Amino acid sequence: MIDALQSIVGCDGVVHGDAIEERYRSDILKKSRSDPGAVIRPRSTEEVAAVLRYAHSSATPVTPWGGGTGLVGGGLAAPGGILIDLARMNQIAEIDRVSSTVTVEAGAVLQNVQEAVEAEGFLLPLDLGSRGSATIGGVISTNAGGVRVLRWGMMRDMVLGLEAVLADGTIVATLGKSLKDNAGYDWKHLMIGSEGTLGIVTRAVLRLRPQPRSTQTALLATGSVEQVANILHKLQARLAGRLSSFELMWNDFYAFVSDAQREQRAPPMPSGSPIYILVEAMGDDATQDDAAFSSVLEQLFEAGLITDAVIAQSEKQRDGLWAVREDLIDVMAAISPRYAFDVSMALADMAAFVADAQMRVEAALPGATLMFYGHGGDGNLHVVVGPGNHPNSAEMASDAVYTATRSVGGSISAEHGIGTYKLNYIGLSRSPAELDLMRTIKRALDPSNILNPGKVLPPR
Ligand code: LAC
Ligand code: ZN
Repeated sequence: MIDALQSIVGCDGVVHGDAIEERYRSDILKKSRSDPGAVIRPRSTEEVAAVLRYAHSSATPVTPWGGGTGLVGGGLAAPGGILIDLARMNQIAEIDRVSSTVTVEAGAVLQNVQEAVEAEGFLLPLDLGSRGSATIGGVISTNAGGVRVLRWGMMRDMVLGLEAVLADGTIVATLGKSLKDNAGYDWKHLMIGSEGTLGIVTRAVLRLRPQPRSTQTALLATGSVEQVANILHKLQARLAGRLSSFELMWNDFYAFVSDAQREQRAPPMPSGSPIYILVEAMGDDATQDDAAFSSVLEQLFEAGLITDAVIAQSEKQRDGLWAVREDLIDVMAAISPRYAFDVSMALADMAAFVADAQMRVEAALPGATLMFYGHGGDGNLHVVVGPGNHPNSAEMASDAVYTATRSVGGSISAEHGIGTYKLNYIGLSRSPAELDLMRTIKRALDPSNILNPGKVLPPR
Protein backbone atom coordinates (compact mmCIF):
# COMPACT_ATOMS: atom_id res chain seq x y z
CA MET A 1 0.00 0.00 0.00
CA ILE A 2 2.78 2.44 0.92
CA ASP A 3 4.54 1.88 -2.43
CA ALA A 4 1.30 2.39 -4.33
CA LEU A 5 0.52 5.60 -2.43
CA GLN A 6 4.06 6.95 -2.79
CA SER A 7 3.86 6.43 -6.53
CA ILE A 8 0.77 8.67 -6.56
CA VAL A 9 1.54 11.45 -4.07
CA GLY A 10 5.33 11.14 -3.84
CA CYS A 11 7.39 10.04 -0.85
CA ASP A 12 6.88 13.35 0.97
CA GLY A 13 3.12 12.96 0.62
CA VAL A 14 2.92 9.69 2.58
CA VAL A 15 3.45 9.22 6.32
CA HIS A 16 3.22 5.76 7.85
CA GLY A 17 4.10 3.69 10.88
CA ASP A 18 5.44 5.47 13.95
CA ALA A 19 5.90 8.67 11.96
CA ILE A 20 2.12 9.23 11.99
CA GLU A 21 1.50 12.08 14.41
CA GLU A 22 -0.79 11.67 17.40
CA ARG A 23 -3.30 14.21 16.08
CA TYR A 24 -4.18 11.77 13.28
CA ARG A 25 -4.82 8.91 15.70
CA SER A 26 -7.48 10.47 17.92
CA ASP A 27 -9.60 13.61 18.09
CA ILE A 28 -9.99 16.56 20.40
CA LEU A 29 -12.43 14.66 22.62
CA LYS A 30 -9.91 11.78 22.98
CA LYS A 31 -12.81 9.38 23.21
CA SER A 32 -11.54 6.93 20.65
CA ARG A 33 -8.30 6.01 18.98
CA SER A 34 -7.52 4.47 15.65
CA ASP A 35 -4.25 3.88 13.87
CA PRO A 36 -4.33 4.63 10.14
CA GLY A 37 -2.09 2.52 7.89
CA ALA A 38 -1.00 5.70 6.11
CA VAL A 39 -1.66 9.42 6.17
CA ILE A 40 -1.40 10.96 2.74
CA ARG A 41 -1.20 14.63 1.81
CA PRO A 42 -2.29 15.04 -1.82
CA ARG A 43 -1.69 18.26 -3.76
CA SER A 44 -4.48 18.03 -6.30
CA THR A 45 -7.89 16.58 -7.07
CA GLU A 46 -6.21 14.29 -9.62
CA GLU A 47 -4.02 12.83 -6.86
CA VAL A 48 -7.09 12.27 -4.66
CA ALA A 49 -8.77 10.53 -7.61
CA ALA A 50 -5.75 8.28 -8.18
CA VAL A 51 -5.68 7.36 -4.48
CA LEU A 52 -9.37 6.46 -4.63
CA ARG A 53 -8.85 4.34 -7.74
CA TYR A 54 -6.18 2.45 -5.80
CA ALA A 55 -8.39 2.19 -2.70
CA HIS A 56 -11.34 1.00 -4.75
CA SER A 57 -9.37 -1.72 -6.50
CA SER A 58 -7.74 -2.89 -3.27
CA ALA A 59 -10.85 -2.44 -1.05
CA THR A 60 -8.89 -0.16 1.29
CA PRO A 61 -10.90 2.18 3.54
CA VAL A 62 -10.36 5.90 3.02
CA THR A 63 -11.20 8.72 5.45
CA PRO A 64 -10.89 12.42 4.60
CA TRP A 65 -9.33 14.61 7.26
CA GLY A 66 -9.63 18.40 7.57
CA GLY A 67 -8.92 20.41 10.72
CA GLY A 68 -9.39 17.58 13.17
CA THR A 69 -11.91 19.54 15.24
CA GLY A 70 -15.00 17.42 14.58
CA LEU A 71 -16.84 16.31 17.68
CA VAL A 72 -18.38 12.99 16.67
CA GLY A 73 -15.42 10.80 15.74
CA GLY A 74 -16.13 11.25 12.02
CA GLY A 75 -12.49 11.89 11.14
CA LEU A 76 -11.04 8.74 12.71
CA ALA A 77 -9.52 6.45 10.09
CA ALA A 78 -10.51 2.83 9.81
CA PRO A 79 -7.66 0.84 11.43
CA GLY A 80 -4.99 0.30 8.81
CA GLY A 81 -6.87 2.46 6.31
CA ILE A 82 -5.83 5.60 4.44
CA LEU A 83 -6.34 8.98 6.05
CA ILE A 84 -6.38 11.74 3.42
CA ASP A 85 -5.24 15.02 4.98
CA LEU A 86 -6.29 17.71 2.50
CA ALA A 87 -4.16 20.44 4.12
CA ARG A 88 -1.97 20.97 1.06
CA MET A 89 -5.02 21.60 -1.12
CA ASN A 90 -5.64 24.99 0.43
CA GLN A 91 -5.73 27.39 -2.52
CA ILE A 92 -8.21 30.23 -2.49
CA ALA A 93 -8.41 30.04 -6.26
CA GLU A 94 -10.66 32.96 -7.12
CA ILE A 95 -12.75 35.68 -5.54
CA ASP A 96 -15.25 36.74 -8.21
CA ARG A 97 -16.31 40.27 -7.28
CA VAL A 98 -19.05 40.43 -9.87
CA SER A 99 -20.69 37.11 -9.04
CA SER A 100 -19.94 37.44 -5.28
CA THR A 101 -18.36 34.01 -5.01
CA VAL A 102 -15.16 32.45 -3.78
CA THR A 103 -13.76 29.28 -5.33
CA VAL A 104 -11.64 27.42 -2.84
CA GLU A 105 -9.94 24.06 -2.31
CA ALA A 106 -11.13 21.75 0.44
CA GLY A 107 -8.08 22.07 2.68
CA ALA A 108 -8.31 25.85 3.10
CA VAL A 109 -8.88 26.88 6.72
CA LEU A 110 -12.22 28.61 7.25
CA GLN A 111 -10.71 31.67 8.95
CA ASN A 112 -8.22 32.18 6.11
CA VAL A 113 -11.08 32.19 3.62
CA GLN A 114 -13.15 34.53 5.81
CA GLU A 115 -10.21 36.96 5.97
CA ALA A 116 -9.40 36.73 2.26
CA VAL A 117 -12.94 37.59 1.21
CA GLU A 118 -13.20 40.31 3.85
CA ALA A 119 -10.18 42.02 2.29
CA GLU A 120 -12.24 42.22 -0.92
CA GLY A 121 -15.31 43.63 0.85
CA PHE A 122 -17.23 40.37 1.26
CA LEU A 123 -18.55 38.20 4.08
CA LEU A 124 -18.47 34.41 4.15
CA PRO A 125 -21.14 34.13 6.84
CA LEU A 126 -20.36 30.66 8.20
CA ASP A 127 -18.69 31.15 11.56
CA LEU A 128 -17.89 28.88 14.47
CA GLY A 129 -15.51 28.60 17.41
CA SER A 130 -13.10 26.32 15.52
CA ARG A 131 -12.75 28.76 12.58
CA GLY A 132 -8.95 28.70 12.98
CA SER A 133 -8.68 24.96 12.36
CA ALA A 134 -11.85 23.83 10.56
CA THR A 135 -11.38 23.46 6.81
CA ILE A 136 -13.78 24.18 3.97
CA GLY A 137 -13.92 20.47 3.11
CA GLY A 138 -14.69 19.69 6.74
CA VAL A 139 -17.46 22.26 7.13
CA ILE A 140 -19.01 21.09 3.86
CA SER A 141 -18.76 17.38 4.70
CA THR A 142 -20.39 18.01 8.06
CA ASN A 143 -22.79 20.74 6.89
CA ALA A 144 -21.48 22.86 9.75
CA GLY A 145 -23.69 25.35 11.55
CA GLY A 146 -22.24 27.69 14.18
CA VAL A 147 -23.21 31.13 15.38
CA ARG A 148 -24.83 32.85 12.38
CA VAL A 149 -27.20 30.18 11.08
CA LEU A 150 -30.18 32.21 12.20
CA ARG A 151 -29.52 34.76 9.48
CA TRP A 152 -27.51 33.06 6.76
CA GLY A 153 -28.19 29.35 7.14
CA MET A 154 -25.89 26.37 7.45
CA MET A 155 -22.98 25.54 5.16
CA ARG A 156 -25.37 23.85 2.72
CA ASP A 157 -26.93 27.24 2.02
CA MET A 158 -23.61 28.74 0.96
CA VAL A 159 -22.42 26.07 -1.48
CA LEU A 160 -23.19 27.04 -5.07
CA GLY A 161 -20.80 24.63 -6.73
CA LEU A 162 -18.89 21.53 -5.72
CA GLU A 163 -16.15 19.23 -6.95
CA ALA A 164 -15.88 15.80 -5.36
CA VAL A 165 -14.17 12.48 -5.98
CA LEU A 166 -16.41 9.43 -5.97
CA ALA A 167 -15.51 6.05 -4.49
CA ASP A 168 -14.08 4.69 -7.74
CA GLY A 169 -11.99 7.79 -8.41
CA THR A 170 -14.41 9.53 -10.78
CA ILE A 171 -14.22 13.32 -10.45
CA VAL A 172 -17.61 15.05 -10.52
CA ALA A 173 -17.82 18.81 -10.63
CA THR A 174 -20.48 21.43 -10.97
CA LEU A 175 -18.63 24.67 -10.36
CA GLY A 176 -21.28 27.11 -11.55
CA LYS A 177 -21.70 30.44 -9.78
CA SER A 178 -25.41 30.93 -10.27
CA LEU A 179 -27.92 30.92 -7.44
CA LYS A 180 -30.21 28.77 -9.55
CA ASP A 181 -29.53 25.45 -11.24
CA ASN A 182 -32.30 22.87 -11.51
CA ALA A 183 -30.70 20.67 -14.17
CA GLY A 184 -31.58 17.31 -12.62
CA TYR A 185 -30.78 15.94 -9.17
CA ASP A 186 -28.73 18.36 -7.12
CA TRP A 187 -26.13 15.70 -6.21
CA LYS A 188 -23.91 18.16 -4.35
CA HIS A 189 -26.44 18.12 -1.52
CA LEU A 190 -25.80 14.38 -1.13
CA MET A 191 -22.14 15.14 -0.48
CA ILE A 192 -22.80 18.05 1.87
CA GLY A 193 -23.26 16.66 5.38
CA SER A 194 -22.42 13.07 4.36
CA GLU A 195 -19.27 13.06 6.54
CA GLY A 196 -17.08 11.64 3.79
CA THR A 197 -19.21 8.52 3.33
CA LEU A 198 -20.42 9.32 -0.21
CA GLY A 199 -17.48 11.13 -1.78
CA ILE A 200 -14.50 13.32 -0.95
CA VAL A 201 -15.04 17.04 -1.36
CA THR A 202 -12.08 18.68 -3.09
CA ARG A 203 -13.27 22.15 -4.17
CA ALA A 204 -16.26 24.43 -3.79
CA VAL A 205 -17.79 27.65 -5.05
CA LEU A 206 -19.23 29.54 -2.08
CA ARG A 207 -21.76 32.33 -2.04
CA LEU A 208 -20.58 35.59 -0.48
CA ARG A 209 -22.48 38.55 0.98
CA PRO A 210 -21.43 42.17 1.21
CA GLN A 211 -19.22 42.76 4.25
CA PRO A 212 -21.41 44.48 6.87
CA ARG A 213 -20.15 47.91 7.91
CA SER A 214 -21.56 47.91 11.41
CA THR A 215 -21.80 45.31 14.15
CA GLN A 216 -23.70 45.53 17.43
CA THR A 217 -23.05 42.98 20.16
CA ALA A 218 -24.63 42.69 23.58
CA LEU A 219 -24.93 40.28 26.45
CA LEU A 220 -28.41 40.19 27.97
CA ALA A 221 -29.70 38.57 31.14
CA THR A 222 -33.22 37.30 31.42
CA GLY A 223 -35.29 35.83 34.20
CA SER A 224 -36.56 32.68 32.56
CA VAL A 225 -36.40 30.45 29.53
CA GLU A 226 -40.05 31.27 28.81
CA GLN A 227 -38.98 34.82 27.84
CA VAL A 228 -36.47 33.65 25.26
CA ALA A 229 -38.78 33.28 22.26
CA ASN A 230 -40.39 36.61 23.02
CA ILE A 231 -37.01 38.35 23.15
CA LEU A 232 -35.94 36.68 19.90
CA HIS A 233 -39.11 37.72 18.09
CA LYS A 234 -38.85 41.33 19.25
CA LEU A 235 -35.22 41.55 18.17
CA GLN A 236 -35.99 40.02 14.79
CA ALA A 237 -38.96 42.25 14.19
CA ARG A 238 -37.29 45.50 15.26
CA LEU A 239 -33.83 44.94 13.81
CA ALA A 240 -35.19 44.51 10.30
CA GLY A 241 -33.34 41.32 9.43
CA ARG A 242 -30.01 42.44 10.93
CA LEU A 243 -30.00 39.98 13.85
CA SER A 244 -27.24 37.47 13.06
CA SER A 245 -26.57 35.67 16.37
CA PHE A 246 -28.78 34.71 19.28
CA GLU A 247 -26.77 32.47 21.60
CA LEU A 248 -28.11 31.15 24.89
CA MET A 249 -26.16 30.33 28.04
CA TRP A 250 -27.86 28.93 31.10
CA ASN A 251 -26.45 30.21 34.38
CA ASP A 252 -24.51 27.02 35.19
CA PHE A 253 -22.63 27.36 31.92
CA TYR A 254 -22.16 31.13 32.16
CA ALA A 255 -20.93 30.98 35.76
CA PHE A 256 -18.56 28.09 35.05
CA VAL A 257 -16.97 29.65 31.95
CA SER A 258 -16.81 33.29 33.09
CA ASP A 259 -15.31 32.20 36.39
CA ALA A 260 -12.69 29.96 34.74
CA GLN A 261 -11.68 32.87 32.47
CA ARG A 262 -11.53 35.36 35.36
CA GLU A 263 -7.73 35.63 35.20
CA GLN A 264 -7.80 36.67 31.55
CA ARG A 265 -10.77 39.03 31.82
CA ALA A 266 -13.36 40.21 34.29
CA PRO A 267 -16.76 38.56 33.72
CA PRO A 268 -18.88 40.93 31.60
CA MET A 269 -21.78 40.56 34.02
CA PRO A 270 -22.24 38.83 37.37
CA SER A 271 -23.51 35.27 37.21
CA GLY A 272 -26.76 34.28 38.88
CA SER A 273 -29.37 35.17 36.26
CA PRO A 274 -31.23 32.14 34.95
CA ILE A 275 -30.32 32.77 31.28
CA TYR A 276 -27.78 34.88 29.40
CA ILE A 277 -28.21 35.74 25.74
CA LEU A 278 -25.41 36.88 23.46
CA VAL A 279 -26.95 38.81 20.59
CA GLU A 280 -25.27 40.29 17.55
CA ALA A 281 -26.62 42.31 14.67
CA MET A 282 -24.88 43.38 11.49
CA GLY A 283 -25.85 46.22 9.23
CA ASP A 284 -24.70 48.98 6.99
CA ASP A 285 -24.98 52.24 8.91
CA ALA A 286 -23.13 52.34 12.23
CA THR A 287 -24.88 55.41 13.66
CA GLN A 288 -28.41 54.36 12.83
CA ASP A 289 -27.81 50.71 13.65
CA ASP A 290 -26.26 51.48 17.05
CA ALA A 291 -29.21 53.70 17.93
CA ALA A 292 -31.78 51.15 16.80
CA PHE A 293 -30.01 48.40 18.74
CA SER A 294 -29.90 50.39 21.99
CA SER A 295 -33.50 51.37 21.56
CA VAL A 296 -34.65 47.74 21.15
CA LEU A 297 -32.74 46.77 24.28
CA GLU A 298 -34.44 49.61 26.16
CA GLN A 299 -37.80 48.33 24.99
CA LEU A 300 -36.90 44.84 26.20
CA PHE A 301 -36.08 46.32 29.63
CA GLU A 302 -39.28 48.28 29.77
CA ALA A 303 -41.28 45.22 28.81
CA GLY A 304 -39.62 43.35 31.69
CA LEU A 305 -38.13 40.79 29.32
CA ILE A 306 -34.50 41.38 30.25
CA THR A 307 -32.96 42.31 33.59
CA ASP A 308 -29.48 43.42 32.53
CA ALA A 309 -27.55 44.24 29.36
CA VAL A 310 -23.95 45.01 28.43
CA ILE A 311 -23.34 46.47 24.99
CA ALA A 312 -19.85 46.05 23.55
CA GLN A 313 -18.30 49.50 23.03
CA SER A 314 -15.16 48.31 21.26
CA GLU A 315 -13.78 45.41 19.29
CA LYS A 316 -12.02 44.26 22.46
CA GLN A 317 -15.25 44.22 24.45
CA ARG A 318 -16.97 42.38 21.62
CA ASP A 319 -14.25 39.71 21.70
CA GLY A 320 -14.63 39.53 25.49
CA LEU A 321 -18.35 38.84 25.22
CA TRP A 322 -17.80 36.17 22.56
CA ALA A 323 -15.00 34.57 24.58
CA VAL A 324 -17.47 33.53 27.27
CA ARG A 325 -19.46 31.72 24.64
CA GLU A 326 -16.69 30.42 22.41
CA ASP A 327 -13.35 29.93 24.18
CA LEU A 328 -14.41 26.65 25.67
CA ILE A 329 -11.79 24.06 24.85
CA ASP A 330 -9.43 24.77 27.75
CA VAL A 331 -12.21 25.55 30.18
CA MET A 332 -14.17 22.40 29.41
CA ALA A 333 -11.05 20.25 29.76
CA ALA A 334 -11.58 20.59 33.53
CA ILE A 335 -14.60 18.30 33.21
CA SER A 336 -13.20 14.90 32.35
CA PRO A 337 -14.61 12.72 31.07
CA ARG A 338 -17.40 14.83 29.70
CA TYR A 339 -20.27 14.00 27.40
CA ALA A 340 -21.32 16.70 24.98
CA PHE A 341 -24.60 16.78 23.13
CA ASP A 342 -25.85 18.70 20.17
CA VAL A 343 -29.62 18.47 19.99
CA SER A 344 -32.32 20.52 18.33
CA MET A 345 -36.00 21.06 18.81
CA ALA A 346 -38.76 23.53 18.09
CA LEU A 347 -38.28 26.73 20.04
CA ALA A 348 -41.70 26.15 21.59
CA ASP A 349 -40.37 22.91 23.17
CA MET A 350 -37.08 24.22 24.52
CA ALA A 351 -38.21 24.97 28.06
CA ALA A 352 -39.86 21.55 28.40
CA PHE A 353 -36.77 19.85 26.99
CA VAL A 354 -34.40 21.55 29.44
CA ALA A 355 -36.60 20.75 32.45
CA ASP A 356 -36.97 17.12 31.39
CA ALA A 357 -33.29 16.62 30.51
CA GLN A 358 -32.29 18.19 33.83
CA MET A 359 -34.57 15.87 35.77
CA ARG A 360 -33.36 12.78 33.91
CA VAL A 361 -29.63 13.58 34.12
CA GLU A 362 -29.87 14.43 37.83
CA ALA A 363 -31.73 11.19 38.52
CA ALA A 364 -29.29 9.06 36.52
CA LEU A 365 -26.03 10.74 37.57
CA PRO A 366 -26.53 12.59 40.83
CA GLY A 367 -23.86 15.23 41.43
CA ALA A 368 -22.63 15.30 37.83
CA THR A 369 -21.96 18.68 36.22
CA LEU A 370 -24.76 19.65 33.85
CA MET A 371 -24.71 22.71 31.62
CA PHE A 372 -26.91 23.98 28.80
CA TYR A 373 -25.97 26.48 26.12
CA GLY A 374 -26.25 26.82 22.39
CA HIS A 375 -27.63 28.45 19.32
CA GLY A 376 -31.00 29.32 20.80
CA GLY A 377 -32.27 31.12 17.74
CA ASP A 378 -31.85 27.87 15.78
CA GLY A 379 -33.50 25.66 18.40
CA ASN A 380 -30.05 24.05 18.85
CA LEU A 381 -28.83 23.35 22.37
CA HIS A 382 -25.53 21.92 23.52
CA VAL A 383 -25.66 19.95 26.74
CA VAL A 384 -22.50 19.14 28.69
CA VAL A 385 -22.60 16.37 31.30
CA GLY A 386 -19.70 15.02 33.30
CA PRO A 387 -17.97 13.19 34.76
CA GLY A 388 -20.60 11.10 36.57
CA ASN A 389 -19.69 8.54 39.13
CA HIS A 390 -20.65 5.40 37.26
CA PRO A 391 -18.92 3.00 34.85
CA ASN A 392 -21.71 3.57 32.35
CA SER A 393 -21.91 7.34 32.76
CA ALA A 394 -21.63 7.96 29.02
CA GLU A 395 -24.58 5.73 28.14
CA MET A 396 -26.62 6.99 31.06
CA ALA A 397 -26.06 10.62 30.10
CA SER A 398 -26.95 9.83 26.48
CA ASP A 399 -30.09 7.97 27.45
CA ALA A 400 -31.21 10.84 29.68
CA VAL A 401 -30.56 13.60 27.15
CA TYR A 402 -31.87 11.66 24.15
CA THR A 403 -35.02 10.50 25.91
CA ALA A 404 -35.79 14.14 26.64
CA THR A 405 -34.95 15.06 23.05
CA ARG A 406 -37.17 12.37 21.65
CA SER A 407 -40.08 13.28 23.86
CA VAL A 408 -40.21 16.70 22.16
CA GLY A 409 -39.65 15.22 18.69
CA GLY A 410 -36.19 16.79 18.45
CA SER A 411 -33.03 15.71 16.63
CA ILE A 412 -30.04 14.01 18.26
CA SER A 413 -27.74 16.03 16.01
CA ALA A 414 -28.41 19.62 15.09
CA GLU A 415 -25.02 20.37 13.55
CA HIS A 416 -22.15 18.07 14.57
CA GLY A 417 -23.29 14.99 12.65
CA ILE A 418 -23.31 11.31 13.60
CA GLY A 419 -19.72 10.14 12.99
CA THR A 420 -19.09 7.10 15.16
CA TYR A 421 -20.03 8.48 18.55
CA LYS A 422 -23.75 8.77 17.79
CA LEU A 423 -24.20 5.69 15.61
CA ASN A 424 -26.29 3.91 18.21
CA TYR A 425 -28.70 6.80 18.47
CA ILE A 426 -29.48 7.79 14.89
CA GLY A 427 -32.57 5.57 15.07
CA LEU A 428 -34.05 8.01 17.58
CA SER A 429 -34.17 10.71 14.91
CA ARG A 430 -34.55 8.69 11.70
CA SER A 431 -37.15 6.02 10.91
CA PRO A 432 -36.25 2.54 9.60
CA ALA A 433 -37.53 3.64 6.18
CA GLU A 434 -35.25 6.69 6.21
CA LEU A 435 -32.27 4.58 7.28
CA ASP A 436 -33.04 2.13 4.45
CA LEU A 437 -33.08 5.01 2.00
CA MET A 438 -29.70 6.18 3.32
CA ARG A 439 -28.30 2.65 2.93
CA THR A 440 -29.59 2.50 -0.65
CA ILE A 441 -27.80 5.76 -1.45
CA LYS A 442 -24.62 4.56 0.27
CA ARG A 443 -24.61 1.25 -1.65
CA ALA A 444 -25.17 3.03 -4.96
CA LEU A 445 -22.34 5.50 -4.46
CA ASP A 446 -19.92 3.30 -2.57
CA PRO A 447 -20.63 -0.36 -3.37
CA SER A 448 -17.38 -1.61 -1.78
CA ASN A 449 -17.90 0.47 1.37
CA ILE A 450 -14.48 2.12 1.29
CA LEU A 451 -15.55 5.72 1.94
CA ASN A 452 -15.23 6.48 5.64
CA PRO A 453 -16.74 3.12 6.57
CA GLY A 454 -18.45 2.72 9.93
CA LYS A 455 -19.58 6.35 10.07
CA VAL A 456 -23.14 7.77 9.95
CA LEU A 457 -24.96 4.46 9.27
CA PRO A 458 -25.03 1.89 12.07
CA PRO A 459 -24.43 -1.76 11.17
CA ARG A 460 -27.72 -3.59 10.71
C1 LAC B 1 -20.39 25.14 20.00
C2 LAC B 1 -19.94 23.86 19.38
C3 LAC B 1 -19.77 22.80 20.39
O1 LAC B 1 -21.36 25.72 19.52
O2 LAC B 1 -20.84 23.47 18.39
O3 LAC B 1 -19.75 25.56 20.98
ZN1 ZN C 1 -22.55 24.67 18.24
